[in-house]
Amino acid sequence: MQRNELCWCGSGKKYKKCHADYDERISELKFDVFKGQVRPPHKLINNARDIAGIRAAGVINDGALDLVDTLVKPGITTAAIDQAVHDYIVEHGAVPGDLNYQGFPKSCCTSINDIVCHGIPSAKVKLKEGDIVNVDVTTVLDGYYADASRMYMVGEVSPAAERLVRVTRECMEAGIAAAKPWHFVGDIGAACGAHAHENGYGVVTDLGGHGVGKGYHLEPFVSHDATAGTGMLLVPGMTLTVEPMINEGTWKTYTDKTGDGWTVRTKDHKLSAQWEKTILITETGSEVLSS
Ligand code: MF3
Ligand code: CO
Ligand code: CO
Repeated sequence: MQRNELCWCGSGKKYKKCHADYDERISELKFDVFKGQVRPPHKLINNARDIAGIRAAGVINDGALDLVDTLVKPGITTAAIDQAVHDYIVEHGAVPGDLNYQGFPKSCCTSINDIVCHGIPSAKVKLKEGDIVNVDVTTVLDGYYADASRMYMVGEVSPAAERLVRVTRECMEAGIAAAKPWHFVGDIGAACGAHAHENGYGVVTDLGGHGVGKGYHLEPFVSHDATAGTGMLLVPGMTLTVEPMINEGTWKTYTDKTGDGWTVRTKDHKLSAQWEKTILITETGSEVLSS
């Protein structure tokens, strides 16, 4: 690309005043193919307009989760939580990203106890004292996606459950702290995984985080148990999720295909927890766009 042409990122600025230095910095790097190091394709780099769009989707997404904070109590059905999430997102001029996504029938995921993720809200399922539950919400605004989830402890829960929820949050935070420009996506999983293993927990690896923003599940796949210095290079303008699923026991999961086709459970039926944020890679580190 010529230095006086308009930049490929769609900013409307001249290339030389926009991503020329960035492309040059990348071209000087040596990528170690044996570590699976790859450069990020241009389509994963968001310009200022894209970032503003994802940020605005994130504000609504956070509002929906704040509403969930006020609803979680023993006796509420997961369908009632879903309805509130749906109505909040729609009333704010946005669309629930989960609804009809690959045939998913509801507007959020509600994953209780041994459910790892993708639990389908139901009028038949009531939260009860002692449960731990993840509520995962995605908002689409003007085509931009923001994706986040929180754990809830229903009434009094066991000390073991409380510890799992806390450590899983710490795993997410460790992963986010490792998400820095000019570092690698494997650094996220190395940090998440180390903290989980130190605490004796299993890390789910058959599902993971993902690029998000101009679409729902984009590259790169974000493993939560990886080797530092491997995978895609992280650069400013990338947006992705960090969403560790951490298990009390085995990391192994299964999806009961004779059931609803969605619900992912731990193979040993021990507890699983998850927290998720959408983050932006900045010049100096990262910024949370939805949590
Ligand atoms: N929000 C989930 C994620 O973190 C994906 C849910 S997809 C659904 O990536 F279809 F199950 F809703
Ligand atoms: Co999510
Ligand atoms: Co996600």
